[in-house]
Amino acid sequence: MNILVIGGGGREHAVIKAIKKNPDVTEIFALPGNGGIAADATCVEIGAKDIDGIVDFAKSHAIDYAVVTPDDPLVLGCVDALTAVGIPCFGPDRKAAIIEGSKAFSKNLMKKYGIPTAAYEIFDDMDAAIAYLDTVSYPVVVKADGLALGKGVIIAADHAEAVDAVRSMMADKVFGASGDHVVIEEFLTGPEVSVLAFTDGKTLVPMISSMDHKRAHDNDEGLNTGGMGTIAPNPYYTAAIADECMKTIFLPTMEAMNAEGRTFKGCLYFGLMLTPNGPKVIEYNCRFGDPETQVVLPLLESDLLTVMQAVTEERLAEVEVKFATDKSACCVIMASDGYPAHYEKGFEITIPDEVSGGVYVAGAAIKDGKVVTSGGRVLGVTATAATLPAAIKAAYDRVEVIHFDNAYYRHDIGARALKALQDKA
Ligand code: AMP
Ligand code: GLY
Repeated sequence: MNILVIGGGGREHAVIKAIKKNPDVTEIFALPGNGGIAADATCVEIGAKDIDGIVDFAKSHAIDYAVVTPDDPLVLGCVDALTAVGIPCFGPDRKAAIIEGSKAFSKNLMKKYGIPTAAYEIFDDMDAAIAYLDTVSYPVVVKADGLALGKGVIIAADHAEAVDAVRSMMADKVFGASGDHVVIEEFLTGPEVSVLAFTDGKTLVPMISSMDHKRAHDNDEGLNTGGMGTIAPNPYYTAAIADECMKTIFLPTMEAMNAEGRTFKGCLYFGLMLTPNGPKVIEYNCRFGDPETQVVLPLLESDLLTVMQAVTEERLAEVEVKFATDKSACCVIMASDGYPAHYEKGFEITIPDEVSGGVYVAGAAIKDGKVVTSGGRVLGVTATAATLPAAIKAAYDRVEVIHFDNAYYRHDIGARALKALQDKA
């Protein structure tokens, strides 16, 4: 089988390594992939948002199955376009991808179907939004409606910060058209959990839970990033909470999308907060999380491609989706120093062969035959082990032997999860 994977981040690298294990796979093409993915797939310089280019490539390369992972092509209708020319795909169509593409849509969906989430109001008029800020308690959360590369969320400590946030989104358009509408919502507290789930619209199978570390620096300080590391499973996510989420959040979301005529097929991402009043949805994503995927897929014991194809063919109920129950995983992101603000790139990356199996490359290019850094998040280093402390140690041991100038990483990935385990014991 010839497989096409759209995207070029660490998440796509993890998906590609998992798909490669299927013995029926002959060739994997990554569009555009990156300098590190090139070791595991044939990378082709076609951007993930170039839907026409992707469809032309798929038609001319006898592609048997396509996996669309990034938010942009999903929201742009990449799955619809590939399906229209007869190529089976993993990922939601455009109508379903709106669950991530518009926060206004997802908040209204949750309200309509009684799915627990933070209280909110939506505004398309800046003066009305600013007037509303007189009536709320602080901190308050201000979100741009559309896709904003994970940066469209501002937690405003006081009235002045909130007014600035609304102005920057609605008047200065720092997130472009994503700021035409803003959501102002209640600030929730509690541990965060990421749960990815396979669903074909009939059946929903949650994957192993994980915990992201979004801030740039140790102790959750510094700017929000795309994610600086992950661990799985998430110790806060007990079996009782998992049952509750299935009943109050996961299945109701699948059914709500069906009722709206927007059946979701693919990987649905639930960003949850375990508040004192129960689990609530912070956000939905219409795709695998990054870097959650880099700890979740290494713990998947079933064949990923088989599960994906079952989702496409709406027979997820018939396949086994099995995760290791006796293992943990940790992924540490090695970034370019200065990320997510200013950083230099173009430095050679060296990865010893003995650790390359657990390395998922995000920001690398090939220059003069060498793999060099080309982005903020450069690569993720994953290790699995029998316990969480052992997985964390093994991941950091691997980080030690990988080199590029200006490498930066957090030293405390998993520390909060370890503390939760100790508190439990
Ligand atoms: P999002 O892009 O929606 O995932 O938001 C980014 C981060 O902002 C989340 O991971 C949370 O840490 C935080 N956040 C978003 N919404 C809220 C909220 N209502 N209350 C508290 N924190 C929030
Ligand atoms: N790690 C969060 C996300 O993928 O959006």
